[in-house]
Amino acid sequence: EWIPQHVLITGGAGFIGTNLAYYVAEHFPTTAITVLDALTYAGNRSNLDAMPADRFRFIHGDICDAPRVDAICSPESVHNSSSVAQDGHSLPPIDAIIHCAAESHNDNSIMNAAPFLRTNVDGTYVLLEAARKYDLRFHHMSTDEVYGDLPVDSPEKFTESSPYHPSSPYSASKAASDHLVRAWHRTYGVRTTISNCGNNYGPWQHVEKFIPRQITNILSGRRAKLYGDGEEVRDWIHVEDHCAAVMQILTRGTLGETYLVGADGCRSNIEVLHDILTSMGLPENDFDHVRNRPGVDRKYALDASKIERELGWRPQHTDFAAELKNVVRWYADHRDWWEPDKDATETSYAAQGH
Ligand code: NAD
Ligand code: DAU
Repeated sequence: EWIPQHVLITGGAGFIGTNLAYYVAEHFPTTAITVLDALTYAGNRSNLDAMPADRFRFIHGDICDAPRVDAICSPESVHNSSSVAQDGHSLPPIDAIIHCAAESHNDNSIMNAAPFLRTNVDGTYVLLEAARKYDLRFHHMSTDEVYGDLPVDSPEKFTESSPYHPSSPYSASKAASDHLVRAWHRTYGVRTTISNCGNNYGPWQHVEKFIPRQITNILSGRRAKLYGDGEEVRDWIHVEDHCAAVMQILTRGTLGETYLVGADGCRSNIEVLHDILTSMGLPENDFDHVRNRPGVDRKYALDASKIERELGWRPQHTDFAAELKNVVRWYADHRDWWEPDKDATETSYAAQGH
């Protein structure tokens, strides 16, 4: 097992990045953490307010800014007074990048793909070049969507050797970034790994995403909104299980390899919505049907046997109904966190017929 001394988490003020930063802080007590985040609409600096001040640093910056990324990753930066933790402790050189920064929402990519190509493709290239120059370990966080979709009634699952078949501008940009990571490993020997994970849920997820949107619609006196007939299937996993998998891969994974991360969590959208409504004390039919997404993927399902077999990873948060209740409670307790984003998100959805 290899333990990083100082990990750079890109996109650490977003949903998974925030959960990952706290996971590393708790489970890797000797590892320093720098978060680099552009604070787009999806990032929130205050998420990280409880990080340990003696080994955490936040940098407001863009992964596409190559000179900035180079300066952050350079071992020379330790001689520079900016390479200090929040409380002034000096930080060791960065030896690993966990790349979570992305434009992450399919509906936004359908409206305007430009930021997806920039951040997801160009940004990944910039980070790979820094990893190459300074010989940094590089973990790339990717998605099951790169494999396209499966028929709803099929028992088939994606594996690490499934062909790439992305459907949306978002998934196409993630597929492109995966290919760059593989090429930088094979051509330049960069020490890379990739994880392709299914749909995450948990605290700090933006209100644009399916589960938080329904919960916060109900908490704010709106009605839940289901796209189409709701028969689409997603393979749900609790975000903390994903974070644990990423850290197992970073510390013990085989270089150059890809690992699928899934928790046998396949559920149709309508089933998930019924669970949300029931857990919030509402009748199962208390929602609106709205326009479906153009080109929607019907089903994702992941075969996670490789990471289970090779790294011994297992999901811990497997009681979906109980975990969903915790998420409902989290949003009820954190109104100040999501309320500022809610009206704008709903206005944008209304304009798209969603
Ligand atoms: P998110 O949208 O919640 O957060 C993305 C973060 O990246 C934000 O903090 C944002 O400010 C930051 N960011 C965006 N552009 C940037 C730039 N140019 N420079 C620096 N920072 C920038 O996304 P998420 O749901 O936490 O997803 C994180 C990663 O995991 C993404 O790569 C996504 O593709 C992948 N992923 C997500 C899921 C999921 O279910 N949410 C599943 C599998 C994989
Ligand atoms: O599979 C992993 C992917 O999961 C990640 O790569 C993406 O970053 C992440 O956003 C997520 O993508 P999806 O498109 O599957 O998630 P989303 O929450 O947008 O939608 C899930 C399903 O729910 C999808 O079929 C659309 C539907 N939906 C969504 C919203 C916002 C609704 O029925 N109602 C809604 O209000």
